[in-house]
Parts: sequence; C-alpha cells; structure tokens
Amino acid sequence: MEVVIKSSPTEASKSAALLIKKTILNDPACVLGLATGSTPLKTYEELIKLYQEKIISFKKVVSFNLDEYVGLAPADKNSYRSFMNDNFFTRTDIQIKNTHLPNALPKSIPEECKDFESKIKKAGGIDLQLLGIGLDGHIGFNEPGSSLNSRTRMKTLTPETRLANSKYFSAIDRVPKHVITMGLGTIMEAKICLLLAFGDDKAQAIADMIEGPVTASVPASVLQFHPRCIAIIDESAAAMLKRKNYYTQVYDDKPGWQRWE
Ligand code: GLP
Repeated sequence: MEVVIKSSPTEASKSAALLIKKTILNDPACVLGLATGSTPLKTYEELIKLYQEKIISFKKVVSFNLDEYVGLAPADKNSYRSFMNDNFFTRTDIQIKNTHLPNALPKSIPEECKDFESKIKKAGGIDLQLLGIGLDGHIGFNEPGSSLNSRTRMKTLTPETRLANSKYFSAIDRVPKHVITMGLGTIMEAKICLLLAFGDDKAQAIADMIEGPVTASVPASVLQFHPRCIAIIDESAAAMLKRKNYYTQVYDDKPGWQRWE
C-alpha cells in the first residue's frame, strides 16, 4: 500500500483530485467508484474546479457509488443519491444516466444487489474506487465482521455507525438500520483503490488498516492485499503510524514516472 501524508485535508484532496484527473485524461470513458461522507467533499470541489476550467470532462465517465440506505427514496434529502447529485453530479457534465447507486427501494434486495454487480461487470469494472473510512475501519458500509470476499449485499449498521452518521439526520432513530453496500470483494476488484482519511479521530482506524493484521474486524485492512491501493491522509490521521517517516521518505524519493501531481 502506498501511503501519502499531506499537511492538510485540502492538500490531500488536491492530490486525490489530480490522481482522478490523470485517470480521466488516460481514459475519458473511465469507470469511477465514488464515495459519500464528509471526507471526499473537498476532492469533489477540486474536480468541479478542474471541470469548470475545462481541464477534464465527465461526459463519458461512468460512476458507481459504494452504498445507499435501504428505504430512502432517491429524492430523500438524506439519500446518498441526493448527496451525490447536490455535491457533485449536477455540478459537472456527467450524464445522470451513467451514474449508479444501489436502488434502496427494490422489489427484491438480493436481485438488486445481483443487478448492481452485473452493471459494474458490464461497464468493464471500476478503474478507480474512491474510499473514506469509518471510525471502526469500515469501507463502504462493510462493518466489522464483513467477509473479506463479500459482494454487494444488505448489511445492518452498527449502533456506532448510526450514531456517527446521525449528524446528517434530524434524530438517530431516523438513520436507517439497513444499507446496500458493495462488498469487500467488489471493492478489491477496482484497478486502483484511493482511500482518504483526515483528522485525529481516524488515526486508530488508519493505523489498524495499514499496519495491523488483515482481519474482518478491521474491514479496510483487506486493502493490504490490493496491488494498487493509495492512502492519501493528513498529518492527524497519520499520527499513530509507526512507519510514518518511511512513508514520507518513499513519497519524497518517488521517481517522476510514478507521480501524478
Ligand atoms: C459512511 C460511508 C463511508 C464513509 C464513512 C466515513 O459510513 N458509508 O463510505 O467512508 O461514512 O464518513 P466521513 O467521511 O464523514 O467520516
């Protein structure tokens, strides 16, 4: 895993946006895996700037989001569809028909999950998957205990995740108990995984993910098996890493052909 430590969330987000820019310039019809939560917001702002400056276009880009709350209609202000429309999709030239989130009100949840997986396959797989991380080390909504080989399916949120995400809802009991999420196996098939984490409350999850054992108890630790996983984090999220100085040295000494910024 490549660990890039930046001085602030803004610097980290700029770096993430440049890696996504490179992916789009390499293939304007690339498939992006997208994430919600507060962490990727600055990256989306940077990408919107690059679009406004006409440096990149999303016209041919296809996207798949990691997850959605079961029971929320797309128009619900708390749905991840609304989050993506408001913070990214409607502010770029991406075609809404090319953007995919799990349908959270399906006739059959297992059928919807199968269909979501086959849409990813039909699109040729995900070129770059953007990820945040939960305080307990979850990615997407793969809570601790998730199979490291899991596919898109329904998961039950932990009380801790419902509490953490209740900041977006009027009350904690409004936070759905169930979600549909890409599985860890689904995420692992992306060609590049780009994980972002900021702030000292993420320091433990980041240390466990990067330097701890690979275990379903820390779902993000499965990324240690990924051939091209890049974690771009700020100083506070890096605070508990034992090999922090080494990661900085590796980054500083990177040859030009490996750089994206
Ligand atoms: C939710 C999302 C995750 C996200 C996590 C952290 O659980 N499903 O994809 O990484 O929240 O959110 P934040 O970035 O707001 O800390």
